[in-house]
Amino acid sequence: MKILLTGGSGFIGRNLGAALAAKGHIVLTASRGNGFNFAHMLTENEWLPHLQGVDAVINSVGIIGECRDQRFDTLHTHAPVALFRACRLAGVRRLVQISALGADETAFSPYHLSKKAADDYLRSLDIEWFVLRPSLIYGRGGKSADLFMRLSALPVIPVVDDGQQILQPVHISDVVATVMRALVAPEGRKTLDIVSTEVISFSDWLEKNREVQGLGPARILQIPHALAMACVYVGRYFSPILQPDNLRMLKIGYWADPRPVEHFLGRALLHSAPALFFADASSFGSAS
Ligand SMILES: NC(=O)c1ccc[n+]([C@@H]2O[C@H](COP(=O)([O-])OP(=O)(O)OC[C@H]3O[C@@H](n4cnc5c(N)ncnc54)[C@H](OP(=O)(O)O)[C@@H]3O)[C@@H](O)[C@H]2O)c1
Repeated sequence: MKILLTGGSGFIGRNLGAALAAKGHIVLTASRGNGFNFAHMLTENEWLPHLQGVDAVINSVGIIGECRDQRFDTLHTHAPVALFRACRLAGVRRLVQISALGADETAFSPYHLSKKAADDYLRSLDIEWFVLRPSLIYGRGGKSADLFMRLSALPVIPVVDDGQQILQPVHISDVVATVMRALVAPEGRKTLDIVSTEVISFSDWLEKNREVQGLGPARILQIPHALAMACVYVGRYFSPILQPDNLRMLKIGYWADPRPVEHFLGRALLHSAPALFFADASSFGSAS
């Protein structure tokens, strides 16, 4: 297949690109580095020249915090909608949209709402689409995965309130395996949450991250939500991940039923064995 992969330079995109190339697909990778700035690709006409002979498109562009010209509505909604429209005009047969767990009717943050708006538009098209909503993804080279590693290595580990917010982390190889299956599955038009059966609290997840780095137990410091929020208001000037809405999303915790994705893959998703934290998708058979 000839596949246009947007966000090809990112954590998910890099792993996907490698898996697709290993399968012999022709991969056209799109990111700002090679002239595809979503902020400037807001009409079908910007996309159409890049879709000639393309069989499938995977969109894995996304940001976790806004800055300057990196806006949620532009990058998560307007540019993808223009891309989806162009795909329909160009006769692209299949579209795989990487959304995020929580981009559903419960969404309240601009991050989730802007993802959901594009997902909803895609779901309205008569094209073979997949909307995939991963939970927190871990594995070598992920930005949030790295942040959790660094946090967990501190001598005192900060958590919000009691740190019992729930996560269902998924390994990057399971995300890649789900996309690979979505490209060939006979049944299209599906929204799937990519979540594992492993339900773990935020606090336990950080302790696990610490353990796999060979570090001994550390003290957990419970920070009341209001104080954490104040810290994040300052921290957002230093890191785009530190956003009040990200803290609100963390506080809620998201859970989804793992059975649909397990059924789709025909197997259970991986549980967080230590080696997985330092592995990318190519290290595991599931993705290739
Ligand atoms: N990682 C997770 O835990 C996780 C979990 C759930 C959902 N997701 C979603 O999955 C998607 C990808 O996540 P990721 O972890 O791979 O993120 P990432 O490593 O930060 O990669 C983001 C990608 O988006 C591209 N991008 C950013 N701004 C762009 C722009 N203006 N124009 C074109 N491309 C742009 C980046 O390319 P350049 O910067 O090179 O241009 C990069 O390829 C996101 O939508 C994210 O919300 C991720």
